[in-house]
Amino acid sequence: MSVRLAIIGAGLMGADHAKIFADDLPGSQLQVICDMDQARAKAVAVATGARDVSNNPEAVIARDDVDAVVVASPDFTHAPLSMACIKAGKPVLCEKPLSQSSVECLQVMDEEMARGLRFVQLGFMRRYDQSYVEMKQALEQGQLGRALMMHNFHRNVETPAADFTGAMAITNSAPHEFDVVRHVLGCEYAAISAYQPQRSDARLAPVVMVLETQEGQLITIEVNNNAAYGYDVRAELVGEAGSIAINPVSYTRTDAKLANATAYEADWRGRYAEAYRRQNRAFLRFVKTGNFPEGGSSCWDGYCSSVVAEAGVRALNEGCKVPVEMIAKPEFYA
Ligand SMILES: NC(=O)c1ccc[n+]([C@@H]2O[C@H](COP(=O)([O-])OP(=O)(O)OC[C@H]3O[C@@H](n4cnc5c(N)ncnc54)[C@H](O)[C@@H]3O)[C@@H](O)[C@H]2O)c1
Repeated sequence: MSVRLAIIGAGLMGADHAKIFADDLPGSQLQVICDMDQARAKAVAVATGARDVSNNPEAVIARDDVDAVVVASPDFTHAPLSMACIKAGKPVLCEKPLSQSSVECLQVMDEEMARGLRFVQLGFMRRYDQSYVEMKQALEQGQLGRALMMHNFHRNVETPAADFTGAMAITNSAPHEFDVVRHVLGCEYAAISAYQPQRSDARLAPVVMVLETQEGQLITIEVNNNAAYGYDVRAELVGEAGSIAINPVSYTRTDAKLANATAYEADWRGRYAEAYRRQNRAFLRFVKTGNFPEGGSSCWDGYCSSVVAEAGVRALNEGCKVPVEMIAKPEFYA
């Protein structure tokens, strides 16, 4: 039986999700593409063979011919649309972040716990990226000894909008880092500090964060949204007995003019194509079996990222170390 899907939001990510389901994931059927911008919805529907288009997300979620939903509209829509999916009893793959407000994350968790079933898988797809999978394995198999530090770099060519701020770098870009570090190390955060170097122009400077885990490990995260040269994500996990680092992913090398060179991509979609496929395949299995994917990202994980991001924004604004204070993890998400 095919899972009949609705994709809400037909921008960069929605179009990418639709293409993955249409091209790579048998067992799914694109039923509706929904976007406030009907031209975008139609273009994605034509490109992927989706059956219908809409500009009304709530009506789409309620449709009898929709089994499950992918939310890829802007951040502020994620929590309300996830809540609507839970109320309709439909599994949802919701893009990150669940919400930029930890209070709103708690409301989604409450709704899910009240239903007594898991409905929401979050789009923290780095958990499915082979580099992080191998890092986690190396740590769990004891090759590195106890984890001491993890250094993370997230660089984009330029900010998505001219008015993108340091706070947005923390609430929109850094959550991938917050989540994947928690996932790889199996840790929770205790405190965060955030800094920015001075640029020579008016562009947004990188945000550099130092986080302490509850087990006393140190995590550094650089989010540089104006790195200029390409999309580049790096990480190194340092243990007491060894370290493991992500290799740059590149299929070719050019040798010319007395140099060898590999190319950078302009954005994340190529770098993480296989991670998105694995994540979306896991979501389909979740829809079919009702079993939440092992290692998948839940509302609890969305809440944790949101609490850290809120503390990070405070740390940046106030220039001080801020404690990360979370509720106890509900048994429901154990
Ligand atoms: N997992 C990842 O690696 C990753 C990468 C980039 C973006 N994202 C997240 O994905 C989401 C979408 O990002 P994007 O880059 O595709 O943005 P985008 O601006 O390209 O697309 C968003 C689309 O949503 C539509 N939209 C706005 N409000 C809507 C509503 N209420 N109902 C239906 N459609 C609506 C817009 O018209 C637009 O077409 C964001 O929340 C972002 O944080 C995740």
